[in-house]
Amino acid sequence: MAEFDTIIIGAGPGGYVAAIRAAQLGQKVACVEGRETLGGTCLNVGCIPSKALLHATHLLHETHENFEKMGLMGAPPTVDWAKMQAYKADVVTGNTKGIEFLFKKNKVTWLKGWASIPAPGQVKVGDEVHSAKNIVIATGSEASSLPGVTVDEETIVTSTGALTLAKPPKSMVVIGAGVIGLEMGSVYARLGTQVTVVEYLDAITPGMDAEVAKSFQRILSKQGLKFVLGAAVQSVTKGKTGATVTWKLKKNDSEASLDADIVLLATGRKPYTSGLGLEVLGVETGPRGTIKTDDHFQTNIPGLYAIGDAVAGPMLAHKAEDEGMAVAEILSGKHGHVNYNVIPGVIYTTPEVASVGKTEEQLKEDGRAYKVGKFPFMGNARAKAIFQAEGFVKLLADKETDRILGCHIIGPGAGDLIHEVCVAMEFGASAQDLALTCHAHPTYSEAVREAALACGDGAIHA
Ligand code: NAI
Repeated sequence: MAEFDTIIIGAGPGGYVAAIRAAQLGQKVACVEGRETLGGTCLNVGCIPSKALLHATHLLHETHENFEKMGLMGAPPTVDWAKMQAYKADVVTGNTKGIEFLFKKNKVTWLKGWASIPAPGQVKVGDEVHSAKNIVIATGSEASSLPGVTVDEETIVTSTGALTLAKPPKSMVVIGAGVIGLEMGSVYARLGTQVTVVEYLDAITPGMDAEVAKSFQRILSKQGLKFVLGAAVQSVTKGKTGATVTWKLKKNDSEASLDADIVLLATGRKPYTSGLGLEVLGVETGPRGTIKTDDHFQTNIPGLYAIGDAVAGPMLAHKAEDEGMAVAEILSGKHGHVNYNVIPGVIYTTPEVASVGKTEEQLKEDGRAYKVGKFPFMGNARAKAIFQAEGFVKLLADKETDRILGCHIIGPGAGDLIHEVCVAMEFGASAQDLALTCHAHPTYSEAVREAALACGDGAIHA
């Protein structure tokens, strides 16, 4: 039986970051992971492999759509699916090995296997029981299914199966117009698949600024994705080949169905905590099985902590990482802190979509007096040069104080652009602070500055 200061269960972005930080702060740390490789869902079957496929298929799309316009002649490339899969696997391996290296460098012990918590202060892995002053649960989440739908990860798939299909299908029905549905839907639409997205709500990407969501849907439709909105899926039945999805339109109760080679279930995720023994320990849980914690990530059991997708809040890798860092600092006698008001969200389609802070709808609901500074990428020289001038930057600021309250971007590099607004918000900056900051020309970031200018005396290029 080995003794540790802290044992972290799960080596995803929450867990591995917590482990590294705690070790850096002088603790004797172990991290339990049952997968063959470190990095959790994000590195193995989530964020990273999907970005590889998004990148490859984006380039393919460029060759079809824009190469000729730039005088780049010749037949567009054909797809070697096995090679694309191998490239994706290499990207994953490079990253998971990187975490292994960081564990060694920081002297974090990797306990290989699946953990349970037989008693407070104890973690069982295989036949061995280890003890620790503190235990952190960072076990992440799993895809949630629909009632009566059986996922086989071949024909009816979650995001995991969607990353490793035998071949790009002719047709695909995506259930759920959230982040996973639209990212993976984009990948296959660019590979020539007829993609139909069936969504329960009347708009795509729930919670996103409505103006951005509308623009996003229009752009994706132009890229060939079809949308059925306001549709409650009734059943998914597997046939000899493919599957049939049946839905009911909420507005008139009419039923319709569609056959497709592949059905992707992308209707959200739920905490993954089975096998830990939380019920026996008496750990309190909340809605959808999230583990309840206090402001310091401690559960109702002293010495037992939880972070990431297993607790409340957005299921995002970077939110988990921030919580991982904060919990490690708290357990090392420091003041770990996460600012939940400034957590960006990014969708890695083309164009990218990114947001931080309040949406206009939320500000209206809060009855807050605000102003809007909007700037279209049509006025941005760099965006026009790469045929991506369709989107815009929308900055929301307090009407009286000019303090930045939120930002919503659809356009090139949105996922990177959003971070200057995040930093500004962390510093409590005003829109004028952004507007007075020199931005290099020609960059996409000028559009953010112009949106800030639009909150004051007006943008220059609109
Ligand atoms: P999501 O919560 O983003 O979207 C699920 C969608 O499914 C919603 O629009 C919902 O209204 C719809 N839906 C639910 N039940 C339905 C039904 N019966 N019929 C039709 N539509 C239905 O969930 P998603 O896309 O599965 O992603 C899971 C989590 O992973 C999210 O928290 C997401 O933020 C995270 N994620 C983040 C990524 C990123 O940051 N780029 C990438 C992938 C996932």
